[in-house]
Amino acid sequence: MSKDPCLRASDIDTSALGACASKGVKLLDDLDTAVSAPMTLPGDLNGQGIEKAVAACRQVHNTSGSETFCKGESSRQSRTLYADSDQSLQRSETTWRTGSGIQHRLSRIRPFPNARERDILGDVRLLIKPWRGAMSSTVDPFADLKTRQREMWASFAPTATFTTPVAAHLVEFAEIKHGETVLDVGTGTGVVAITAARAGALATGLDLTPALLDVARENARIAKLANTQWLEGDAESLPFPDGHFDVVVSQFGHIFAPRPEVAVAEMRRVLKPGGRIAFATWPPEHFVGRLFSFVAKNSPPPPPGAAPPPQWGSPDIVAERLGDKFEAPFFSRGVMQFPALSLSHYREFMERSVGPMQKLIEASANEPERLAALRAGFETLAAPYYFGNMIRQEYLLTRAKAR
Ligand SMILES: C[S@@+](CC[C@H](N)C(=O)[O-])C[C@H]1O[C@@H](n2cnc3c(N)ncnc32)[C@H](O)[C@@H]1O
Repeated sequence: MSKDPCLRASDIDTSALGACASKGVKLLDDLDTAVSAPMTLPGDLNGQGIEKAVAACRQVHNTSGSETFCKGESSRQSRTLYADSDQSLQRSETTWRTGSGIQHRLSRIRPFPNARERDILGDVRLLIKPWRGAMSSTVDPFADLKTRQREMWASFAPTATFTTPVAAHLVEFAEIKHGETVLDVGTGTGVVAITAARAGALATGLDLTPALLDVARENARIAKLANTQWLEGDAESLPFPDGHFDVVVSQFGHIFAPRPEVAVAEMRRVLKPGGRIAFATWPPEHFVGRLFSFVAKNSPPPPPGAAPPPQWGSPDIVAERLGDKFEAPFFSRGVMQFPALSLSHYREFMERSVGPMQKLIEASANEPERLAALRAGFETLAAPYYFGNMIRQEYLLTRAKAR
């Protein structure tokens, strides 16, 4: 493979490159490894050449226009193919990760005659989807925030014990039926997607955090479910074609996307006409909403323009955000009970397993007085919600039909 991959500097996230270089990673070698890593195309695309892959993409997804675009995903990288109307490959964009979780977005332009079959064929599982977000090569202004989120949520798995009952409530509230296609945004360990799959839905779980998706896959295996798939991705750039799902759900997941209007537009885009959106969120006036405020008050400010997650817990704000893309929403409420032997047991669990709280405590590790004050503040905040050995965490459910 050429050592001159024709990188376009404008597409390179230089902060990621800097971080990568400081770890001693040789970028071009890595790019070559990533790009030449063998991949497998699904079904009848498997074993065929690049022309047929692009043609089949067009055929399968009925993409029109001068450019066919397909997005491939594996646990290590994603690849987007662009071709013009005569199906010759114009360029391929590749995003991949190192073990440290850093994401690199590079682009190479290669006319089709130079593309090799091995560039897209082999033994890494690859899903091909048309992906409208891929049409834009602009750098995500919140890429750093999302990198931090990916790292922050990696320890969340034990908390899923407590979000599991809420998943049943959400699936029931969303009126998910046998045979429906369901997307669970911010699936974590897959509690909602798996509950939907057990109800007979064809469930796709999407999350920023690969470590949680590994647990989700294992959960699906234990539950003996074949009707699930798991994808790494971002609520603000969903890797699916328009009108793909009957239902889009999110349980305390999409609220972390920094731009609510982008997340809503994406969730609406991938819904079929008349499809449903349903999600669980934390009201600002109850415990978890107040905890978010407490963490925010004691942490460095988020990047400008990032909306605070608990805003999603106010029915008025939810209705405004769904706007004219959806019919008027229905609301319901519930309580997530969190068993704890004492407030300190609860706090210690949160410090170990819930990213925002974990980060807050880690940042004060070398300041004993501040650490003690934060811990006392947390327990004071939680005390009014603690009775019967349970912490009471009230949530809001929203359901709305796409117009
Ligand atoms: C509080 S956890 C909820 C997980 C799961 N839905 C549950 O109820 O157990 C929040 C999840 O949202 C994911 N997340 C955060 N930002 C995201 C984004 N922009 N796109 C997709 N997932 C995101 C995190 O990785 C994490 O898994």
